[in-house]
Amino acid sequence: MKEVTYNGLTFCPYITRDQIQQRIHQIGKQITEEFRGRRPLILCVLNGAFPFASELFLNIDTDAEIAFIRFKSYEGTASTGVVKEVMGLTDDITDRPVVIVEDIVDTGKTIKHLVEHLKQYNPAEVKIATLLFKPESLKTDVQPDYIGFSIPPKFIIGYGLDLDGLARNLQDIYVLKEQAD
Ligand code: HPA
Ligand code: MG
Repeated sequence: MKEVTYNGLTFCPYITRDQIQQRIHQIGKQITEEFRGRRPLILCVLNGAFPFASELFLNIDTDAEIAFIRFKSYEGTASTGVVKEVMGLTDDITDRPVVIVEDIVDTGKTIKHLVEHLKQYNPAEVKIATLLFKPESLKTDVQPDYIGFSIPPKFIIGYGLDLDGLARNLQDIYVLKEQAD
């Protein structure tokens, strides 16, 4: 794999598509066992989580539904700290188990906000699946239930993760070169 450049920033290969798929396969199995017969709603947080949610959903081998919600909280490589909902939930989640699917839990503010938002509808339970987790960046008390990869607080792109809207379509995950080692 080669380096890639976006907006004048260079990124190095970090996690391969193979590693990502293997890990998602494991998480899919885990969710299958834990939610068998309970018809969980898999709730994909757009835009970044859609490749992860897609792969994860295909690896859940029991009845499940998928829905989409959208927030915006991140611009460039620094968190704006602003979390606002731009596209709401239409499915009825009352008394149903919900698995939120995120691309990354960084400060945890977005996911915390979403969990609080969902709780007003009295779901049976709310779990969090995230492809990537930066534990050192966490500024809230949320703890993801299913974690693809825990990583240091470095800026990464690919497999859904963007730099100002770009790089989501990279098949592998890349890290900002100046933070690579
Ligand atoms: N990359 C892209 N988007 C993000 C990141 C990151 O490392 N952290 C939070 N949102
Ligand atoms: Mg983003």
